[in-house]
Amino acid sequence: MKDLLSAEDTNDIQSWIYSGYPHLPKSTYAFLRIDDQIRARQFLKGIPWQISSATKSRNRQAQSHQVLNVAFTAMGLLALGIDDETVEKFPIEFQEGMNAPHRGAFLGDISPGGKPDHTVRDYAASAVHLLFACHFISASVRDSWISKFQRDSSAGGLSLVGLELGELADSGKEHFGFKDGISNPEIHGFKGAGSATGEFILGYPNEQGCMPVSPLLSPESDPHDLLPPAMCDNRNMRDLGRNGTYLVFRKLAQDVSAFWNFIADDCRRRLGRAEPADLVWLASKLVGRWPNGVSLVEAPHFDAYSEIMQERLKAGSLNDFTYGQTDTSGHRCPFAAHVARMNPRDRIQGLSESEALGTTARHRLLRRGRRYGPELFDLKILDTPESWNRLQQLFQSRPEAQDTTRSDRGLFFIAFCANIREQFEFVQRAWGNNPHFNSAKGSQDPLIGTNSSITPGRSGIPIPDRDGGITTGLVPQAVSFRGGGYFFLPSIAAFRWICHGK
Ligand code: HEM
Repeated sequence: MKDLLSAEDTNDIQSWIYSGYPHLPKSTYAFLRIDDQIRARQFLKGIPWQISSATKSRNRQAQSHQVLNVAFTAMGLLALGIDDETVEKFPIEFQEGMNAPHRGAFLGDISPGGKPDHTVRDYAASAVHLLFACHFISASVRDSWISKFQRDSSAGGLSLVGLELGELADSGKEHFGFKDGISNPEIHGFKGAGSATGEFILGYPNEQGCMPVSPLLSPESDPHDLLPPAMCDNRNMRDLGRNGTYLVFRKLAQDVSAFWNFIADDCRRRLGRAEPADLVWLASKLVGRWPNGVSLVEAPHFDAYSEIMQERLKAGSLNDFTYGQTDTSGHRCPFAAHVARMNPRDRIQGLSESEALGTTARHRLLRRGRRYGPELFDLKILDTPESWNRLQQLFQSRPEAQDTTRSDRGLFFIAFCANIREQFEFVQRAWGNNPHFNSAKGSQDPLIGTNSSITPGRSGIPIPDRDGGITTGLVPQAVSFRGGGYFFLPSIAAFRWICHGK
């Protein structure tokens, strides 16, 4: 089929780009610092054969009980002895990293309470150089990997500056109770359809027919002939980026009580009551899908729980919709809902449907996030209307009274893209945090916007309907940034080159 990736290329691409590993529910993210360059190089030279490729992931028989992927920060490349000139060939946002002060400002990474737990950001401050991400079939397999890895990496001149544990729940739900990980782009090179390969993998044309920025090196820089030739202007050059991508990692804490208590309070404020169905309706309007994953465009009323929809849920067909034809005015899924902001599909005001589709195609994210921490309540109750009354019982008093667990919970938002600025940063800034995007009327993304009390002039979320609709009260900052970073997830060939050096 046209433009499919060759076997040589799929062997070279890290498998995480191909799969989110639904069969491996436990994960760990080990953040490391290089203390001893020589020993670290030796240690890392033994790693490529352990890294899983897209070919292995595609071939289900070869799927093992654990899968390793490795990524570098710009500081990590320098710490391994890669010269400044080479690192400067990477895009500036990768070189500066997520924690550069001006980036924090436009990404909305402020500290609302004054004392955020900047766990991962602290790692960056103490120089995160590498991310070892490993996915496992069970917690016991994970635990034995961690103990061995701690010993080996320390002997290999690396120190562990942070270790995070993620999981994929059986229900597939994030902590507010909504099914997550539904809408993700397909990559043309893997499937023969979907987004241009160059939107997610370096070294291939993107949606505009251009090559994403990739560090090209002279042939002398690659004496062992490890890197593939550049596919663009100068074929004499070697492409360090080809078959690699960028990885955005963000630790986002979720205050589940704050979210659901806001929903309950807002229902009481407007309706004088907070019936279970009122709560689920309002929360779904903010997210843009029902808790079971059905889109509001396809099931604007409680028909999300009908037999037909249950059948569709089982068949997994939850993503075949556009907004334009069915929901021009946002009466079903509000413009301001999280999913409609993050991927407005064919509905961007001022653009025709085809222009909107062309625009959104250039700002997609391949999400691979996992949640962390225990559930505050049994989230499955949201999937059966008969048990919604338990939700009402949980959230009818003040938040402080309910969250006695004092546990930290949230989402490790992880996304791949070939252009951090045009994809992740654009979506967060221009669509998530922008109070003027698509009839937002002064509001920001209800989940990930800068909904802090210190944000000036912000408004509630507009939820239009035939009679004019409603505007919610000011949503609380129920999601807060705890830190993160930008990483380069190299191809397996580029990984070898990085460990060998020039
Ligand atoms: C704690 C924070 C977050 C929560 C609870 C959350 C929750 C959700 C949920 C429930 C969905 C719908 C299910 C799906 O399509 O997978 C979704 C979709 C999505 N989210 Fe988030 N999300 C969070 C953070 C983010 C961030 C930081 C971004 C990007 C900057 C993002 C981008 C997206 C995108 C692109 C979609 C798919 C929309 C579509 O294609 O229809 N999310 N999210």
